[in-house]
Amino acid sequence: MNKKYYHIITYGCQMNEHDSEKMGGILEKLAYIKTSEIEKANIIILNTCMIRENAELKLFGKVGSLKKLKEEKDDLIIGVSGCMMQTEENRDELYKKYPQVDFVMGTHNFYELPEILQELDKSKKRIFRVWPEGKGLLPELPVSRAEDFKAWVSIIRGCNNFCTYCIVPYVRGREISRPINDILTEIKKLVINGVIEVTLLGQNVNSYGHDLKENIDFADLLAEVAKINGLKRIRYMTSHPRDFTEGLIEVIKENENICNHFHLPVQSGSSRILKKMNRGYDRKKYLNLITKIKKEIPDAGITTDIIVGFPGEKEKDFNDTLSLIEKVRFDMAFTFIYSPRPGTPAAKFNDKVADEIKKTRLQRLMEIQNKISLKKNQEMLGKNYKILVEGESKNNPDNYMGRTFNNKPVIIPGFKSYKKKILEVKINKVNSFTLYGEIMG
Ligand code: 5AD
Ligand code: SF4
Repeated sequence: MNKKYYHIITYGCQMNEHDSEKMGGILEKLAYIKTSEIEKANIIILNTCMIRENAELKLFGKVGSLKKLKEEKDDLIIGVSGCMMQTEENRDELYKKYPQVDFVMGTHNFYELPEILQELDKSKKRIFRVWPEGKGLLPELPVSRAEDFKAWVSIIRGCNNFCTYCIVPYVRGREISRPINDILTEIKKLVINGVIEVTLLGQNVNSYGHDLKENIDFADLLAEVAKINGLKRIRYMTSHPRDFTEGLIEVIKENENICNHFHLPVQSGSSRILKKMNRGYDRKKYLNLITKIKKEIPDAGITTDIIVGFPGEKEKDFNDTLSLIEKVRFDMAFTFIYSPRPGTPAAKFNDKVADEIKKTRLQRLMEIQNKISLKKNQEMLGKNYKILVEGESKNNPDNYMGRTFNNKPVIIPGFKSYKKKILEVKINKVNSFTLYGEIMG
């Protein structure tokens, strides 16, 4: 029998990456083999994102470029899934302008992939099947993981927050927590199979548990996960600053295997803008949270997301963001230009910020943040840290890249055998984004 290959292209966040791993798991059950060569694939799936405008441009460009491949290869199946497919306009555009697409599925029903493929085979007609809403918990799915020593584990899907700029609640639906026993069973199995680091995933991990029968929250879940023998590092993504409790800080402080990295998207340093964003905290509350974290966990790595040019953002608001980053001294910030997402409240707000101003603000913000990042990295010079070696460095395959507990990437000279090991390194060179080290043990 001829071998069948699959190739999945993923856009967007870790949640999407992990959904792609699940699609891979399903396809492997159907005897498909993963390939990194798109030309070799019998099925190609594009798992889409729509958090910002350029994600859409990228997708339609990519689908367009697959036309030739489809013409050359009779039996090639092309599918599109993920967040962008939850909106009718995007589906229509694909349906009308891109006949090379054989099927479409959404964020709630991607696990129907086996039935979709079967139907496609029988009917030879295009299938565009997307559920507007989820129907409860996703079934437990097989997962084809990129690595065997670290793994993503999903703990909660969807989002109830409705920040006014964000499309996620409309395309991923309401929050559904996964039962704690399912999570713990999955992680225990992973650890038996050699996983030493897990990242617990959710749009807002801090609201874990509020919809479950048991009286448990994210801090309880973390404490249980931390007890799993052999699990060396626990990370989680993404936290909402509004819901980050003192109890949680306590659990993180008490458990050595919970990483001291806090990714707390602030979005803006102006209380006025935060209110318009419907973030549920103001500048003071955010700064108090950071003060508490720094007091309890002095070597914490703190990172954030910031949006510039939100409607109504005046120079004073932007200066508040600049002064906030100086106060907090983030290790790193992911910075974005506000992009109106159709269907979100902010897309209808007046007082839009001109593109030129948005661009200069982003530039100013990045310049200041890069200086802060550099200074923070310089403070690590000459000191020893434990890193988990993840693999070859992207820029130089003779070097290897590992991460400290507080999530700093460190480049070391090394060998293949270093991969998956936790090594002690001394930092001997830094720039704003990367640290370089020598192995101490
Ligand atoms: N425009 C720009 N940035 C956005 N983000 C979310 N929605 C938008 C938008 N409409 C950013 C936020 C979020 C990160 C994942 O993407 O900063 O934390
Ligand atoms: Fe993109 Fe958000 Fe969907 Fe993730 S959840 S794929 S970031 S739109």
